[in-house]
Amino acid sequence: MVKKIGVLTGGGDCPGLNAVIRGVVKTAMVKYGYEVIGYKDGYRGLVMNDFIKLKLEDVTGILDKGGTILGTSNRDNPFEFRVVKDGNIEYKDMSERVINNMDMFGIDCLVLIGGDGTLTSARDFARKGLKVVGVPKTIDNDLSATDVTFGFMTAVETATEAIDKLHSTAESHHRVMILEVMGRYAGWIAIESGIAGGADIILIPEIPYDINKVAQKILERKNSGKSFSIVVVAEGAKSVDGELVVSKVVKDSPDPIRLGGIGNKIAEDIEKLTGIETRVTVLGHLQRGGRPIPYDRILSTRYGVAAVELINAGNFGMMVGLQGNDIVGVPLEEAVGTLKTVPPDGELVRIAKSVGVGFGD
Ligand code: F6P
Repeated sequence: MVKKIGVLTGGGDCPGLNAVIRGVVKTAMVKYGYEVIGYKDGYRGLVMNDFIKLKLEDVTGILDKGGTILGTSNRDNPFEFRVVKDGNIEYKDMSERVINNMDMFGIDCLVLIGGDGTLTSARDFARKGLKVVGVPKTIDNDLSATDVTFGFMTAVETATEAIDKLHSTAESHHRVMILEVMGRYAGWIAIESGIAGGADIILIPEIPYDINKVAQKILERKNSGKSFSIVVVAEGAKSVDGELVVSKVVKDSPDPIRLGGIGNKIAEDIEKLTGIETRVTVLGHLQRGGRPIPYDRILSTRYGVAAVELINAGNFGMMVGLQGNDIVGVPLEEAVGTLKTVPPDGELVRIAKSVGVGFGD
């Protein structure tokens, strides 16, 4: 019999996190009479036993708010948790401590909201017998067991608006305008915003680009009377003979590589090869912030409610996901580890090519 559930948000923030929390808390408290506690700052709160008892008032007025009322962290892995001992940094498995704390405070199960890293730990907790349910979050949309992660559509909307605005300067000044968007291993934001915003060139991690072909496309446009070009590039795009462009390494993070800078790199090359003035906009965390669009508010609410329904049905070790029009439960064992990337010969790439988009291939 479940009486008390814990919820946390892990990894990078993302539009719709609060809507999921609201869906979980309302369904758990009102429909099933569970108590809900919220752990602060992702797995850090779980390990340090830092939580608040959530009340219905806490989730009032948060549906449209960006970020997460619980805080989050993309540095803490409970199975390799950073501790400082006698001035030295060590990484320790804190999972037993988590299980003991939960026992002590009578917390029956957890709703773990996050991307691949957070959900991999969720799977590892499930393997240890903990009752957990996962909710798929990431603006990158790169989780394989769901058609869509919440937050992605809002990020696409933000990126599309940026492309629309960049068109003004591109046309007026006859420039190449580059928009660098997020997407470490998957180019979903780049390809979807690029198609929606009418980009001329889209560079994604799944299709290594040849800079000469990119330049050639821009010159062809110029020769046909189009004096500007818009390029959308995912931060994880790389050239046929190149490496990822890393902006910094966050040593104590489970995923230490932070990408960024590819936009500037290709801008330099494009200017050299075409002689056309080329400018770069890096969209960065604007993609992760702000109000979720209605699609994400609805999807997040569906996910939050479905997570509690799984708990009520005693269906643990699962992640909620969207398959077609249906919300389904998928075993966490199948939901993590394999990223969903843009198929290079899939429909999206084909339709983009049909309307004249170049991929530098
Ligand atoms: O996973 C989402 C994501 O937005 C990636 O696309 C990006 O590389 C990363 O998070 C950035 O994380 P941080 O906020 O730590 O720089």
